[in-house]
Amino acid sequence: MRSRIGLFSRPRISHKSRISFGHVEADECGGMNALLRAAPNTTVAFGALGCAVSIRDLADRPPHPVPDGDALDLGGRRVRFVATPHVPHNWEAQVLYEETTRTLLCGDLFTQAGRSRAIDDDVVTPALDAQASLASAAPGPAVPAVLRWLAELQPETLATMHGASFVGDGASALDSFATGWEARFGARGALSTLR
Ligand SMILES: [Fe+2]
Repeated sequence: MRSRIGLFSRPRISHKSRISFGHVEADECGGMNALLRAAPNTTVAFGALGCAVSIRDLADRPPHPVPDGDALDLGGRRVRFVATPHVPHNWEAQVLYEETTRTLLCGDLFTQAGRSRAIDDDVVTPALDAQASLASAAPGPAVPAVLRWLAELQPETLATMHGASFVGDGASALDSFATGWEARFGARGALSTLR
């Protein structure tokens, strides 16, 4: 990973831009400061809570705090910042929703193990299977509650960080994931599969 970050070690990105991510974890934002060095006009945009608890201290330049639910206009695309506290993990967790293409950049949600599938396949069962072995998300009702909020956005693409993305009825997929989560893990979340 560090050798890949080296690709960004020389300043070569001149236009003004924003970078963002889902939560504080190496595979989400480990390259944040390398990108800031490579792109002097770039700022980290993140939810206001995350800026207050972590990003302001971790980032080499002051971040741009975005209030929950606000959108940044990127010119032809609008990215909404949706706070998802503790889901899948970490207090500052958020997802990004690109309103023009109805794309939910859902990070670790819908993580799948093994070979990737077609983008219109069932993503719920493999995501539940992966969670049963990883137990990476918060216990309690937070995960299904957030999945149902996100369903209200009615996304048409679920852009997943680990595994195949999904194109189709994203609201139904999110609702099914919430229902399956409660049925399979109950109040203890995926921790119930470990002990
Ligand atoms: Fe994560």
